[in-house]
Amino acid sequence: MVNKPKILVTRKLPEAVECRLEQNYQPILNHDDRLYSAEELIGLSEGAVAILPCHTELLTAKIIGDLPESVRIIANFSVGVDHCDLEAAKSRGIVVTNTPDVLSDATAEIAMLLMLGAARRASEGERLVRSKEWKDWSPDFMVGIQVSGKRLGIIGMGRVGQVMARNARDGFGMEIHYHNRSQLPTDLEAGSIYYDSVEELLPHCQFLSLHCPATPESIGLLNAERIAILPEDAIVVNTARGALIEDEALATALISGKIAAAGLDVYNNEPAGIFPGYRDLTNIFLLPHIGSATRETRDAMGFRALANLDAFFAGSEPVDRVA
Ligand code: DGY
Repeated sequence: MVNKPKILVTRKLPEAVECRLEQNYQPILNHDDRLYSAEELIGLSEGAVAILPCHTELLTAKIIGDLPESVRIIANFSVGVDHCDLEAAKSRGIVVTNTPDVLSDATAEIAMLLMLGAARRASEGERLVRSKEWKDWSPDFMVGIQVSGKRLGIIGMGRVGQVMARNARDGFGMEIHYHNRSQLPTDLEAGSIYYDSVEELLPHCQFLSLHCPATPESIGLLNAERIAILPEDAIVVNTARGALIEDEALATALISGKIAAAGLDVYNNEPAGIFPGYRDLTNIFLLPHIGSATRETRDAMGFRALANLDAFFAGSEPVDRVA
């Protein structure tokens, strides 16, 4: 129908979400789920009022500047918006939204999986069984580090960080220490201990889980200097963004044993340009950016992006407006 607003949907979305999009809008769907080049994205946006992208679409200032005049809203299918130049969008008067809340449980599950997997050497053990190299059991076979009752440090006590803290506290009796831009109210802290700076927090972290967004201030947050002040044998987990870690520094610490193990779901230059040294290390548990990858969450992310679009087209303020 001609009057329905045209929306460029850059990736294949859950079926229920695409069905709903088709009812209310004129979506340009990506049935093959091919990653568009910048030129394709700009070309396909011609006449579209909205773009519904994922974090896989790099929306630089240049690309945003080159978008057709018709584009008035970018409704991201992601909580992270580091792929999208918000200042460029603002200066063109383009509204930007994201999908918070709905992926907190799923992402915290993966953070927990990484923490347990790294500490208990899960991928190493799995490889051993699969390769038929597992020959024997002995008291020192595949001995890892216990998670229960330890101190967990969290950087970024937003929605995902808070779920991670609750699960670690309630499920594994962990003591929670954290750093955040601001201290949480006492009821949300639920006994967690706050530190004003990353440097004050790190010496307390037997485990460290990163949950802050990638911003100019947080890029390279975990570098060699900060790794040096972690306790010996600490375990590092990252489900936020690869840019938070300096790969060379982490790999060096994993090789020297300064850091006992790491669990990563996100990477600098993922997927093709992942730091090559990681693949050679046994004490690292690697997952392919699947923090939000549950059926329930992917549906919820799609419907949340739709809710933002619906609000925009109804002339009200989208609840998840970030620019
Ligand atoms: C997010 O929503 O930011 C996740 O990383 C998936 O894009």
